[in-house]
Amino acid sequence: MFKKTAIVSLFTLISASYMAQTQTLPIYLDESKPVEQRIQDALSRMTLEEKVAMLHAQSKFSSPGVPRLGIPEFWTTDGPHGVRPEVMWDEWDQAGWTNDSIIAYPALTALSATWNKKMSWNYGKALGEEARYRKKDILLGPGVNIYRTPLNGRNFEYMGEDPYLTSKMVVPYIKGVQSNGVATSVKHFALNNQEMFRHTSNVNVDDRALYEIYLPPFKAAVTEGDSWTIMGAYDMYKNQYASQNQYLLNDILKKEWGYKGVVLSDWGAVNNTEQAIHNGLDLEFGSWTNGLSKGTKNAYDNYYLAKPYLDLIKSGKVGTKELDDKVTRLLRLAYKTTMNRNKPFGNVASEEHKAVAKEIGEEGIVLLKNQGNVLPIDVNKAKKIAVIGENAIKVMTVGGGSSSLKVKYETLPLDGIKNRFGKQADVQYARGYVGDIGGEYNGVKSGQNLKDDRPAEELLNEAVELAKNSDYVIFVGGLNKSDFQDSEGNDRKSYGLPYNQDHVISALAKANKNLAVVLVSGNAVAMPWIKEVPSVLQSWYLGSEAGNSIASVLAGDANPSGKLPFTFPVKLEDNSAHRLGEYPGQKDELAAGKGKDQKNPINITYNESIFVGYRWHDTKKIKPLFSFGHGLSYTTFEFGKATADKNVMSQDDKITFTVIVKNTGKRAGAEVAQLYISDIKASVPRPAKELKGFEKVFLNPGEQKEVTFTIDKTSLSYFDAEKHDWVAEPGDFEAQIGNSSDAIKTKVKFTLK
Ligand code: BGC
Repeated sequence: MFKKTAIVSLFTLISASYMAQTQTLPIYLDESKPVEQRIQDALSRMTLEEKVAMLHAQSKFSSPGVPRLGIPEFWTTDGPHGVRPEVMWDEWDQAGWTNDSIIAYPALTALSATWNKKMSWNYGKALGEEARYRKKDILLGPGVNIYRTPLNGRNFEYMGEDPYLTSKMVVPYIKGVQSNGVATSVKHFALNNQEMFRHTSNVNVDDRALYEIYLPPFKAAVTEGDSWTIMGAYDMYKNQYASQNQYLLNDILKKEWGYKGVVLSDWGAVNNTEQAIHNGLDLEFGSWTNGLSKGTKNAYDNYYLAKPYLDLIKSGKVGTKELDDKVTRLLRLAYKTTMNRNKPFGNVASEEHKAVAKEIGEEGIVLLKNQGNVLPIDVNKAKKIAVIGENAIKVMTVGGGSSSLKVKYETLPLDGIKNRFGKQADVQYARGYVGDIGGEYNGVKSGQNLKDDRPAEELLNEAVELAKNSDYVIFVGGLNKSDFQDSEGNDRKSYGLPYNQDHVISALAKANKNLAVVLVSGNAVAMPWIKEVPSVLQSWYLGSEAGNSIASVLAGDANPSGKLPFTFPVKLEDNSAHRLGEYPGQKDELAAGKGKDQKNPINITYNESIFVGYRWHDTKKIKPLFSFGHGLSYTTFEFGKATADKNVMSQDDKITFTVIVKNTGKRAGAEVAQLYISDIKASVPRPAKELKGFEKVFLNPGEQKEVTFTIDKTSLSYFDAEKHDWVAEPGDFEAQIGNSSDAIKTKVKFTLK
């Protein structure tokens, strides 16, 4: 009896306290309530000071939440190829943690080169898991600035020259990352298409180019991918800095596209409080506030969106409408990330993550040339393999700027090749040349000593001798992550390969006809030796599994299926930004020394308008070295004749094209069927053709598959600046399907009514 009473009263006590708890649970913490209601409740409890505090950083990479209400801080991290190591509270220097090394994934150029949306999802999911495990809420990436010039030092962090390819590839990445309760921050919005003068330039671009070329990836990222945050850029557009820009942030992003997420500034991209308040910025990072320098105690309080904002509100000069909108957006972000109780825990360096990195590397590598089928390496014939070139032994994950990483491991190409071929063949190495021996980025050290003081001639002779005495020669060269190469903050100084590599390659080509050149870079390079070299692989920066991915393609374990996400011009002047100017800025202003500081910005006018990359080469019939979409395989494919389900379509109709792709060779492999649309007669200038669909198909020997593409008038439209709308002009069009922009295999004409 006693027992029963005790149990009953215990139960009453527990349920009463539970009731009390649920009854008093504030709405903003009550998960049963709709999010927008919770946001309003949180907002109503916050003081003015708490609201303003939310709008700016409290450290190099974090911003405060609302401690009194238990709303957590936001922790951001670069991005976009792996999770950046921990830095000190206030500085770029390393914090010295020992638990912050991660897996490096292939650079975004490599991901884009897979032309495989599934790979993009896998990438995002794995990277998001690592960010989540490292307790990050916002991943500073992906980058989707369009490839306008091969000199842009940051092209390796982006997805190439085509707005359609970039748009399709970026969406699954975002969804994959965000499935972990970690926000992406698609960057850099917008028009940051070069590093030179990135803080001191004003970009002039016509509306057609803006809407047709430069904005679509961002639009897809926020409207289809639902990226919870977006990062403003450093440069100016219409003479306003992009991170506090009325046209880009308010008119286009928030009004036209209806964006409900958070706009954060690039680090140090804000420089005006009024513009930051009114022009759509929500969260300020990295400012070196006027008059204050690094390390000043109250630097964060003096951010543009800190005390100066508070003072303006208190003095009645500005209202709180913008403030509440910004805080509403930040709270919305909090409910998806920091206050999301349903997010997974994440993990780092699982076997699955390594496999994702390796597979994307293998699928992203592009076989540019393979005369006489030098590749794959025949292990029965290759008893002695010479590996030559600095990039075979150089760590590439350290350097390059904000995407620099501290990795658990990085398999170097030489090690990958030794692991794969070492049992059957004698693999020997010679450097051939010395390029960059550096190996440190903001306190992270590669741990390599690449010093070699031997004269250039001696290095070359050693390499040539080795090449002569080998069955196969693999030259691994290209660019690297040091300043003025593939690196943030500067552009490349020239289009050619650095460190006299052209000379080394030519000498090796003379020494041995079984030569494969493997180019590690995130950019196109000049190849004056292309006729001398039978086989060339574009291998990008492939992260932790680099050496294994490369070896696997060299051996034919993986059949290459990557396709170029940008054009390789023969020479720099063949690129439209260089042919028509302006790069790196308006010529007279350049001569007058403009662009040196923010008081004297330089103008960069995109005179080439919409004619970027293959759109320019095709239209002007300028033959590239390698075209957009190009990439060979160890097997062969055939395209059947394309058919359309109708030959006349109306404005609200759809049209479907069908084509059969067959593997006619002896190996399993994958081909990318690419659909380009050509407007045969138009009242405005239009590119010869534009990518409007692609599909990667995996085929066993002899197997064939049907590929279909369904499009509507959006694929036929151009942006009419006067109407400020998209227009699909009635008339004749042609669907062109092939496996590269310069290899169209089949065409179908149709008419738009
Ligand atoms: C870069 C961004 C990066 C940020 C934080 C900036 O300099 O432009 O891409 O996310 O720094 O490291």
